[in-house]
This record gives sequence, C-alpha cells and structure tokens, in this order.
Amino acid sequence: MTTLVFGALGHVGSWVAHDLVARGDDVAIFDAGAGRFDSLGIDYLEPYRDRFALEEVDVLDTHTLFERMRAYDGRIDAVIFGVAVIAGPNFARRPFRHIEINTMGMLNVIEACRILGVPKFINLSSGAVYGNHPGGQTEETPYMATDLYCATKIANEVLALQYGATYGIDVRNARLFAVYGPGKLPSRMHVLYQALFGPLEGIDGVSTPAGGDQMMDWTHVRDTAAGIVRVLDTPGIAGQSFNISNGNAVTHRDIVAAVQDVVGRDTRVTMGPGKFLDRGAPLDISRARETLGFTPKFADIRDGVIDYKDWLDRAR
Ligand SMILES: NC(=O)c1ccc[n+]([C@@H]2O[C@H](COP(=O)([O-])OP(=O)(O)OC[C@H]3O[C@@H](n4cnc5c(N)ncnc54)[C@H](O)[C@@H]3O)[C@@H](O)[C@H]2O)c1
Repeated sequence: MTTLVFGALGHVGSWVAHDLVARGDDVAIFDAGAGRFDSLGIDYLEPYRDRFALEEVDVLDTHTLFERMRAYDGRIDAVIFGVAVIAGPNFARRPFRHIEINTMGMLNVIEACRILGVPKFINLSSGAVYGNHPGGQTEETPYMATDLYCATKIANEVLALQYGATYGIDVRNARLFAVYGPGKLPSRMHVLYQALFGPLEGIDGVSTPAGGDQMMDWTHVRDTAAGIVRVLDTPGIAGQSFNISNGNAVTHRDIVAAVQDVVGRDTRVTMGPGKFLDRGAPLDISRARETLGFTPKFADIRDGVIDYKDWLDRAR
C-alpha cells in the first residue's frame, strides 16, 4: 500500500516523505515541482531516490491529477495534503490565485479520494485557524480568520471534515505553526524569516517593518514531520484535529539573540514594532502529547538553531 504525499517537495512535506520512506513505507510524491527534483537541493531525500515515486501534478489540473491518482487505484492507504501557498506578505498579492491553490486544490484531491475510495486523508492545517486568539489555544478554541490565508485553512478543515462525515473518509487535521529548519533556505523566504534565521546562511543586516514585539511558536521541521506521522499512524482518531507545534512561544528578539550567539557575530538585525503576522501563540499541544504520544525534540530554540546551522553549512 502507498501513501500519497501532496506538496512533498516543500519544506514540511519533504520531511514527512523522508520519515515515511526511511521507515520503509511506499510513498508517492505528488508535487508541481516534481520535474525539478534534482535541482531542489533536498539532500535528505536524495539517498532514497529509488524508493519513492515522483508525480509532477498541479492540483488545479483536475484531469492529470485524477489520471495520476488512478494509477494507484486500490493501493492507496492514505493521502497527506500539504500543498499550499503559505502565510506571509506574498499571500494577499494574488488573492484569488492563492485561495484557488489552497482550497480548490484540496477539494480536487479529496474529491479524487472520494471517487477512488481512499480510506484516510490527512489535511495539513495551521494554528492560523485560531487567528489572533491569545496563546494557549486548544483544539476547542473557535475558528477566527485574521487574514486570507487563515480563511483558506479554516475552509479546508471544514470541507475536509464534511467530506469525511459524508463519504466515510477518515479525515484528520494537523494544525502546524511557524515551521523552521533544514530544507528551507532563508534567502528564499519573507523578510521576517530572513531576519530571524538569515544570519545562519550568511545574511546579516536584515530590517523588518514589524515583528519585534511578537512571540511565536516556532517549531523545528523534524518535530513537525514527526507529529504529522503520528497523526497518520494513530488509530481511532477519525475526524479529530491536533495542534502539532513546539508548544512554547519564543520572542523574535530572543531568536535573533540565539542566532547571533550561535554564529558568534553581531548580525545587525533590526525589527519594527508590533506583530508581523496577526496570530496568538503558543498552541496548547496537550492533546497531541496525550493522544499521539507527541513530544517535540527541539523544545529549546537554541538546539533547533544549532541543528539548522549544521544543515545550512552543508547545503551552501
Ligand atoms: N511553513 C509553515 O510555517 C507552516 C505553518 C503552518 C501550517 N503550514 C502548512 O503546512 C503545509 C506545508 O507547508 P510548507 O511550509 O511545506 O509549504 P511549502 O511552500 O514549502 O511547500 C508547498 C509545496 O506545494 C507545492 N505546490 C504549490 N502549488 C502547487 C500546485 N498548484 N500543485 C501541486 N503542488 C503545488 C510546491 O511545489 C511545494 O513543494 C501547508 O498546508 C501549510 O499551509 C505551514
């Protein structure tokens, strides 16, 4: 049986695919970037290249999507959906296109799951579904959209859960938060990410318009992926949502200080006041701890920063 991982050439999906392949699962990667795999620099997937299938599929191209999924008919034990345009200043620049990718893209995939009788669907969601509710949000905290990205993540959860309830698909939502770490080049990210982690890649002197007074639940990608695999594996949790994050909020100024300490120089980062993203943090991860046995390994941001620097030093 095969697990189809959509968006598995992205930051989170690539580590999920890695963890599944490394333990011996059959995995098919569905991603619009599949044709460029060799140039993406995903060094942790490369050793397993002959152990997973690569499908170059745009989730908005329903014909190709269905044809390629149908090639696995009867052999799909689960689909993990991790295609998205992620939160950040870029999202609102092309709202309709980005909403289309996030929400129509997921609908296209779950509709194909319904037709093909796929039994399980893991939706990679976000703590963004809580908007700016104050930190300590549990899975019972009401939905609140504070930007268009939040709206797509809320819409996807509601649609996926209703597909599950109506057509008997075992749907689970993994609510992730502010992911950092190996696989993501700060030079390709938005200005806040560059301010926080850019010096690990040699980028100093970044100045952000906002974010200096914010704390967020920054989560190392290996922890994020491990949590998603537990959401996939754990029996008897159909229809449930889980916060998968570090569970601790760290101030952005503390991250800048930790990075500065690790690289051993003045990184000349300046951050404007207020929040960069209108979110509350941290998420309460008690349910994931108790039900899934999930424990973040990089609970201390400094450990995560050191691990990230090791990877960036090798990647450069
Ligand atoms: N990164 C974070 O901090 C974060 C936080 C909370 C939730 N999430 C959620 O986690 C999931 C994964 O995020 P990520 O950080 O890995 O994103 P990413 O941008 O790194 O990866 C997204 C992947 O989707 C692929 N893709 C984009 N458009 C596509 C299309 N039309 N058809 C097929 N593939 C397409 C891209 O090629 C890319 O490989 C998303 O659902 C995101 O909303 C991420």
